[in-house]
Amino acid sequence: MSGIVLDLAGVAQWVRSWGGMENAFRAAHAAAGEGGKVSVFTLTFMKEVLRANRTTGAIAPSGRRLAECVTEMAQIAGEKVIVEYGPGTGVFTEVILQKKDPDAFFIALEVNPEFVRATRARCPGVTVYEDSAENTIKYLREAGHDHCDVIVSGLPWTRFDDSLQDSILNATHEVLRPGGRFVTFSYAFSPWVPSGRKFFKGKLPAKFPKTTVSRPIWKNFPPCLVFTAEKE
Ligand SMILES: C[S@@+](CC[C@H](N)C(=O)[O-])C[C@H]1O[C@@H](n2cnc3c(N)ncnc32)[C@H](O)[C@@H]1O
Repeated sequence: MSGIVLDLAGVAQWVRSWGGMENAFRAAHAAAGEGGKVSVFTLTFMKEVLRANRTTGAIAPSGRRLAECVTEMAQIAGEKVIVEYGPGTGVFTEVILQKKDPDAFFIALEVNPEFVRATRARCPGVTVYEDSAENTIKYLREAGHDHCDVIVSGLPWTRFDDSLQDSILNATHEVLRPGGRFVTFSYAFSPWVPSGRKFFKGKLPAKFPKTTVSRPIWKNFPPCLVFTAEKE
């Protein structure tokens, strides 16, 4: 056990060094089809992976291909009220802004202040609240909306305890209009870890019987699955 702790400390130290981190993520982004470019946003993300691992719940920021896939399944164009949960450094946010109608109402909720700053910097003008996803209805009501049409989620469901999974999932179901879509992703292995299995194979389809899952998105690091849940 102490050997494992020592090894993890060594890995963390290696990743903390800018050189090591850049090389690792240049390789990862090259694998994900991003041309090997490492942006300041990727570096911010990696810092938070180490500092706030529990809420970040990721190995790396999502790649552009996953962002394209998630936003395509969410069918952003033509919708009037759009919400994003957990934008991180704004990878999905950027693509939502490109695809949404110019007059659509769009907000994001993010608990980590570093990520709030990063998303605002990457996507100037976007409204990002530093708050938890289950409080979405408060911000919609303040803007005169009772429901939303689409929710795009980057949340790390497998890292949440039972009660947080339940409260965010219930709030999501309540805030969506009938026929509205909730799109969320997981790492391809997550539905096989206990908390992931409980959420993706149990709670999500129980709450949203019209849930479908994509084929694995291999061109992301790590590969992902995308779940689309429609409110009946
Ligand atoms: C797996 S990262 C995904 C980030 C980004 N969407 C991406 O795909 O690169 C999860 C994000 O959800 C945020 N998060 C965690 N718990 C949250 C909550 N209860 N409400 C809103 N955001 C949350 C984290 O801070 C982090 O930005």
